[in-house]
Amino acid sequence: MTRKSRILGVGMYLPERSVPNTELEQIKSMETSDEWIQQRTGIQARHYVSTETGTDMAYHASKAAIERANLTADDIDFIIFATLSPDHYFPGNGCFLQDQLFGDRPVGALDVRNQCSGFLYSLTLADSLVKSGQYNTVLVVGAEVHSRGLDYTKKGRDVTVIFGDGAGAAIVGLAPDGHQGMLGHGLHSEGKYASALWLEYPNNAYDFFITHENLDAGLHYPKMQGRLVFKHATRRMVEVSNEVLTKTGKTVDDIDVVLFHQANLRINQMTASMLKVPEEKVVNTIQWTGNTTAATIPICMCEAVRQGKLKENDLVLLCGFGAGFTWGASLLYW
Ligand code: UT7
Repeated sequence: MTRKSRILGVGMYLPERSVPNTELEQIKSMETSDEWIQQRTGIQARHYVSTETGTDMAYHASKAAIERANLTADDIDFIIFATLSPDHYFPGNGCFLQDQLFGDRPVGALDVRNQCSGFLYSLTLADSLVKSGQYNTVLVVGAEVHSRGLDYTKKGRDVTVIFGDGAGAAIVGLAPDGHQGMLGHGLHSEGKYASALWLEYPNNAYDFFITHENLDAGLHYPKMQGRLVFKHATRRMVEVSNEVLTKTGKTVDDIDVVLFHQANLRINQMTASMLKVPEEKVVNTIQWTGNTTAATIPICMCEAVRQGKLKENDLVLLCGFGAGFTWGASLLYW
């Protein structure tokens, strides 16, 4: 019999401290305003960590997802951890999470570095691992600590105002008989745009890992060509959503719920309108979470469930775009 996979449970974690735009407004060196941020991005607030690490947040999100799936940690066969802001350069966060969740049980852990598309790349892989019979139950988690690595001056304000910290997790397991589970995915990358959204230093590509001059110049902070990213994001998200619909023999009208990556509310509104998806089918959280990169989609899943908008057997479209450039979409039955 053909094995099918589905999402069995989701969980999220946001640090306690919510940072409204008005707090960023108070940082004189940023020269930003609540009005600018809301108008251009839809963001009103984001959360910042206090003492939590990315792995700590992932642990809490994972525990919640395992519980929602009516499972215990013993049921998890494999970890896929998506993040662009790991606790350490190496080893990856997956290993730290293995220790926190499983201790002496040496569950395999893979780190995925696909930025804002990281969750979609990870979900696609988890689906394949379950369908192939390699594993029965895979934990997919995205977690980011952005707040410690942002440029709180005018130079970095475009990036700084959009990012927030947080984690989201999903348990991917075998779909029961009669449940159609995950239908299909589309993943893409276009590396010629790598420097349009990147963190250049430290690196192993140039003569020095990082120099004092690099640090003084703020080259260890993320840099983005915002307008270029915006333009590509809308076009590619529409394209890959249509690709996945065509591949699975579905139409936009069949979709019950759409969950986009949360980078900018305007991107999502424009993409929904280009796809001709009615606004009430889209659930956004960016207004109070900001952009939590690899965590946005599972956080949106939790919120959609909480709002009662995501119900058993709903057809769900997930879609995102980010640094790389990388982008992707997944279509699945809830
Ligand atoms: O998740 C990863 C993928 N990321 C994205 O998808 C983000 C895509 N890009 C965007 O969301 C938008 O481009 C931004 C929100 C980042 C920027 O909005 P924009 O409407 O594209 O603004 P802009 O970069 O063209 O800048 C317009 C003006 C500039 O001032 P001048 O040159 O017109 O005087 C900027 O310096 O706004 C200024 N500006 C700001 N002003 C106050 C840029 N950032 C800020 C800020 N506060 N935070």
